[in-house]
Amino acid sequence: MSNYHIKHLEEYYQVYRKSVRNPEGFWEEIAEEHFVWRKKWDNVLSWDFSKPEIKWFEGAKLNITENCIDRHLPTRGEKTAILFEPNDPNEEAQHITYRQLHERVCRMANVLKEQGIKKGDRVCIYLPMIPELAISLLACARIGAIHSVVFAGFSANALATRINDSDCKLVLTSDGSYRGGKSIDLKGIVDKALEDCPGVESVLVVKRTNSDIEMKEGRDQWVQPLLNDAYADCVAEIMDAEDPLFILYTSGSTGKPKGMVHTTAGYMVYTAYTFKNAFQYRENDVYWCTADIGWITGHSYIVYGPLANGATTIMFEGVPSYPDYGRFWEVVEKHKVNQFYTAPTAIRALAKENLDFVEKYDLSSLKVLGSVGEPINEEAWHWYNNNIGKKHSPIIDTWWQTETGGMMITPIPYVTPTTPTYATLPFIGVQPALMDDEGKEIKGNQVSGRLCIKFPWPSIARTIWGDHDRYRDTYFSAYKDMYFTGDGALRDAVGYYRITGRVDDVIIVSGHNLGTAPIEDSINEHPAVAESAIVGFPHDVKGNALYGYVILKETGESRDRENLRKEINQQITEQIGPIAKLDKIQFVPGLPKTRSGKIMRRILRKIASKDTSNLGDTSTLLNPEVVKEIMDNAL
Ligand code: WT7
Repeated sequence: MSNYHIKHLEEYYQVYRKSVRNPEGFWEEIAEEHFVWRKKWDNVLSWDFSKPEIKWFEGAKLNITENCIDRHLPTRGEKTAILFEPNDPNEEAQHITYRQLHERVCRMANVLKEQGIKKGDRVCIYLPMIPELAISLLACARIGAIHSVVFAGFSANALATRINDSDCKLVLTSDGSYRGGKSIDLKGIVDKALEDCPGVESVLVVKRTNSDIEMKEGRDQWVQPLLNDAYADCVAEIMDAEDPLFILYTSGSTGKPKGMVHTTAGYMVYTAYTFKNAFQYRENDVYWCTADIGWITGHSYIVYGPLANGATTIMFEGVPSYPDYGRFWEVVEKHKVNQFYTAPTAIRALAKENLDFVEKYDLSSLKVLGSVGEPINEEAWHWYNNNIGKKHSPIIDTWWQTETGGMMITPIPYVTPTTPTYATLPFIGVQPALMDDEGKEIKGNQVSGRLCIKFPWPSIARTIWGDHDRYRDTYFSAYKDMYFTGDGALRDAVGYYRITGRVDDVIIVSGHNLGTAPIEDSINEHPAVAESAIVGFPHDVKGNALYGYVILKETGESRDRENLRKEINQQITEQIGPIAKLDKIQFVPGLPKTRSGKIMRRILRKIASKDTSNLGDTSTLLNPEVVKEIMDNAL
C-alpha cells in the first residue's frame, strides 16, 4: 500500500514531486495496486489540451461496480456500505451491507435491462436522498448505461431541458420526497417535464411518501414489484476505460446547462485515491458527506470514492434544521461519525443558532471536518473548528468543481497545517498555475491571478455532452494548453492557495453554481419585463444572494411592484428551481452598457453590495446617467 496513505508533510512533498515528475508512472502504480481490472491498459495517458483530448488508462477493461462492490464481498460482505438516515429521526436508520448492496444493485440493473436499457443509453435519475438513488447510479454503471442525475430540487422545466439534452430514454423517480416538515410531489414534476420529452419511453417510480399520484398507462411503473421479480445477480458489463460513466449538468455563464461527461477508469482511480487521503479514511470509520447525490460532491464522495474504498458512507435524506438545528450533531453522535463533510452555507446557517444545539451532543468521534462548494469565510471556519472539531479535528477546505470530478486543492488532515480560508496545497498530481490578463503564467509566491491547471489529472471531464466545441471554448481557449477553472486565486508566501471566487458570470449561492444567463432568460420571459441583469451580493448565510435589475415594458409600468416581484420569482421557481430566486429586485429605467452593448456587471455588482465609493473605469459607458439613477434607488 506504498503510496496510498500519506502520513506526514515530508511524505506529501515527496509523493507530490514524484506525481508531477512522472505522472504516468505515478498513476499507473496507484491503478495497479488498488483496483481490479478485467484487462490492464495499453497506455497510461495521452492528451492534447488544444483539441482537447484526454485519455487515461486507454485499452483497460473494467466495471466500476466490481471495484465498488463485488471485490469487497469476500472481506467486507457483512460490513455496512450505505447507512441511510431518514428525514424523520423517528424512522429507523437502515444499514445496507456490501452483500445487500450487491443484490439490490443487481436487481435494479436487471430491471433496467428488462426495460430495454443497453450499454451507452442515457438514464435520467430524479430521486430524493433515499438508498434507491445510490443504487440506481450503480445499477446503470453495472450495465454500462450512462446516468444523468438531476437534483430533485430542480423544476419541471429544468428537468425537461436536461432529459432532452442527453436524450434519456428512461426516468427513475419517486412518488414524492420528504424535506424537513414538507413533502414534495416529485412525480407531478416529472409528469409536467415529460410533456416536453418525447424521447422518454418509461418511468420507474420508487414508493417513498405513499402519496396519491397519477401513473400513465404504458409509460409508468412502480419499481418495487419489478425488483422483487428480478434476478438477484447481474453480470457486470465490461467497459472500456474511457467509456462514459455519467453526465452531470452544471451551469455555465451563458447558454444552456453543460452536461459534463465523466468517464470510467480515471474517475474511479482519482475519486478513490482522493477520498482515502483527503479524509484519511481508515477501515471501520463512519464517513458522512451531507451533500445531495444530485451534485458532483455526492457522486464522488458519497457513492464512488467511499465505496471504492470499502467504506461506510451515510446517506442523509433530511435537512440541517429538522426537526431542529441540532440534527447534524444528533446524527454524528448517533452513528459515531468520524469524517464529516459539509458546505460553508450550512455551517453559517447553524452558527447563527444557539450553541445548545451543538453542546447537547457527543461529537468526540469526529476526526476530520471537510468544507466544499464555496470559499469558507474566517468566522464560519472558526465556529466549525471551535464548536464542532473542538480544535482537534483538522478542517479540510477542499476546492474543486463538477468538471474536475475530484478534489484539486485541499489540505491533507494531520499532514498539511491549515490556515482559515485557505484550500492550501494542490492535491497529489495536480499542477495549478496562476495566469495574468495577458495570458502569462505568474510564477513565484505572494501573487494572485486566474486559476488554471497545467496538466491532466485522471478525473477531468472529457467533454460536454453533444458539444465538444463548447468544452474547448469554455475551458481550453482562454489560456493556451491550460485548463481554465473560472476562479481567481492567490498564492501566499508559503505557496498556499486561497480561492478568491469566480471571475466569470457564474454566481455561487449556498454552494450552488448558478449561471446568470438562464436566470435572466427566465425573468425576461415575464410579459411585463423588457430586459434584466442579475448579480451576486454578499449574504451572511448563503455566501452570495441574487440581486436583479429589471427594466419593465411600458405595459408593466403601471403594475404593482410587489406583485411583479412575486411573479418574477414564481417564474424563476417554475423554470429553474427555488434556489435561483432573487433576494432583491430593483426596477430600473436602463442598464449600464458599454458602447458595444455589453452590460457592465462590475458596476451593478458594486451597487448591489453597497460599495459605490469607487466604481472603477466608467469611460466606456454608453449611458452614465443611468448609473446615478440606479444608485439613488438601490435596495
Ligand atoms: C465552483 C464549482 C466541488 C463540488 C461542489 C461545487 C467554488 C468549490 C470551493 C472551495 C472556494 C469553492 C468554485 C468552483 N468552490 N469549492 N473549497 N473554496 N470555492 O461544484 O457546482 O461545479 O462549483 O465552486 O468557484 O469553481 P460546482
